[in-house]
Amino acid sequence: MIYAGNFKTNHTRSSTIDYIKELNFGLKDKKEEDKVYIFPPLTAIDFYRGDFTLGVQNAYPIESGAVTGEVGAAQLEEFKINTILIGHSERRELLNETQEFVSKKFNFFKKRGFEIIYCIGEPLEIREKGQDGVIEYLKKQFMGIDIDYSNFMIAYEPIWAIGTGRSATVEEIIATHNKLKELSNRPILYGGSVKETNIAEISSIDSVDGVLVGGASLNADNFLKLILH
Ligand code: PGA
Repeated sequence: MIYAGNFKTNHTRSSTIDYIKELNFGLKDKKEEDKVYIFPPLTAIDFYRGDFTLGVQNAYPIESGAVTGEVGAAQLEEFKINTILIGHSERRELLNETQEFVSKKFNFFKKRGFEIIYCIGEPLEIREKGQDGVIEYLKKQFMGIDIDYSNFMIAYEPIWAIGTGRSATVEEIIATHNKLKELSNRPILYGGSVKETNIAEISSIDSVDGVLVGGASLNADNFLKLILH
C-alpha cells in the first residue's frame, strides 16, 4: 500500500521537523512493501532523511523565470525534489486551474521525469446523477494527460468526500476504481476522509493501491496509525 500525506496549508518548518522525527521513529515498524509520501508546505521543504518520499503539493510549469509567488523546476531541483501532486481539486476550484493548465503542468513535469500523483474527482452534483456520469466526468480530467506515463499514479478523490468526514462508500470506490483500472494500469489511490476508522476497510479493496490523506495525516501519530494499522 501507498500512504501519502498531504499537509495542505498546515504545519510550519519547525513543526514539520518534529513531525518527521516522530514519523521516522514509527516507520521502523512499517511493512517493507508499503511506501510513504509526505507533502508538506513549500516553506518546510528541506533535505530530510527517512523511509519516505518527500514531494511538493504544487509548482509552476517553468524552469525559472518571472512568475511572482511561484516556484519552478530549478527551485525543486535544489532540494532534489522529484515528486509532485498535480490536479488537486482545491487548486482546480480555489485557484481556478483549468484542465488545460493542469495538463500543461503534467507534461512539463513528466518531461523532467517527475513522479506525479495526479488527482481527479467529481463534485457532489455529478455523483448524485449516478456512476455513469461520474466516469464521464473523470474521463474529462484525463484530457491532455499521458495515461501511459510510467511514473505517475492516479488519486481518485471525490470532492464531496474531501475534508467532510464522509468518505465514499466501499461500493462507490470499487465501482470507480474498477473503471479507472480499465483506463490505466497505473496505481490508484483513494482520497477523501480516509481515517483510522475506515482505513482497514478501504485498504482491503483490491483496486485500492494506496490512500491520499489530508486531515488524518496532520498529526504524525495519527498518520502512523493508518500506515501501521
Ligand atoms: P482529507 O483530504 O483526507 O482531509 O479528506 C484529502 C485530500 O484532499 O487529499
